[in-house]
Amino acid sequence: MALPVVVDAEYLKEIDKARRDLRALIANRNCAPIMLRLAWHDAGTYDAKTKTGGPNASIRNEEEFSHDANNGLKKAIDFCEEVKAKHPKISYADLYQLAGVVAVEVTGGPTVDFTPGRRDSKVSTREGRLPDAKQGVPHLRDIFYRMGLTDKDIVALSGAHTLGRAHPERSGFDGPWTEDPLKFDNSYFVGLLKEDATGLLKLPTDMALLDDPEFLKYVELYAKDEDAFFRDYAESHKKLSELGFVPSSKATSPKDGTILAQSAVGAAVTAAVVILGYLYEVHKRGK
Ligand code: HEM
Repeated sequence: MALPVVVDAEYLKEIDKARRDLRALIANRNCAPIMLRLAWHDAGTYDAKTKTGGPNASIRNEEEFSHDANNGLKKAIDFCEEVKAKHPKISYADLYQLAGVVAVEVTGGPTVDFTPGRRDSKVSTREGRLPDAKQGVPHLRDIFYRMGLTDKDIVALSGAHTLGRAHPERSGFDGPWTEDPLKFDNSYFVGLLKEDATGLLKLPTDMALLDDPEFLKYVELYAKDEDAFFRDYAESHKKLSELGFVPSSKATSPKDGTILAQSAVGAAVTAAVVILGYLYEVHKRGK
């Protein structure tokens, strides 16, 4: 087990810098889709019962990135390594999830709240925890319920296919889901409801979202109301990025130094407000 990540002021500063570097890297290389897929495949191995897998950067182990489902992701791991080299303090697990959040943001998607502090793990789960694109409704529910996610999460997160495309040499599928695969919007759902969306990809698991009334309800909502999609997507993405992760501000252990760090920041802000208020009063009286 890796050492706990101490989220102190310095760590938060590095996160900010890494965020800026990721924005530039993703914009320069047009690699938002694969960075988002990396974040999802690292997190999506989570099993809520055994508390194994999840966003712990185990995907950087050759054993795991060589899984069939992860074909092509080594490229995204290498991109992240460039940022890690400049900010070695940051855990890989935080870096991969931050890359996913930034990918959504720079392509015009919603802001996904990001809380740092994930630990890295070298323990990879066995192949087979990620969804198989050739299956249908029961499989999708098996996989996502295992992570502790809901029907709404399944549909909202599937909307991430607004970005990117399938590559025959990686997955055997081919083509983008939308007309503009570098723009994060609700066009995945609009396309899914169109019968004559020629040239656009629809995986069996995408089509499955039309086969179940509970799923369909959300597909229809998101196709007509992009704000609703963005709101739900941001919430579901945050859940995905935090599977099995207890942010230290929520940790109950008083031994946890990060609580001290965070309350120290809070105290400093309060003190600054009080002092400024005082100076303002003094200044006013002096006039
Ligand atoms: C619902 C079950 C899902 C299945 C079966 C599935 C399957 C696939 C497949 C087969 C590809 C093509 C890979 C390639 O050939 O390069 C792909 C790409 C992608 N997936 Fe999913 N996916 C699912 C859910 C998700 C979720 C939850 C996210 C993110 C929140 C996501 C994000 C992406 C992105 C961004 C790409 C494009 C990658 C690129 O352009 O390189 N997918 N997915």
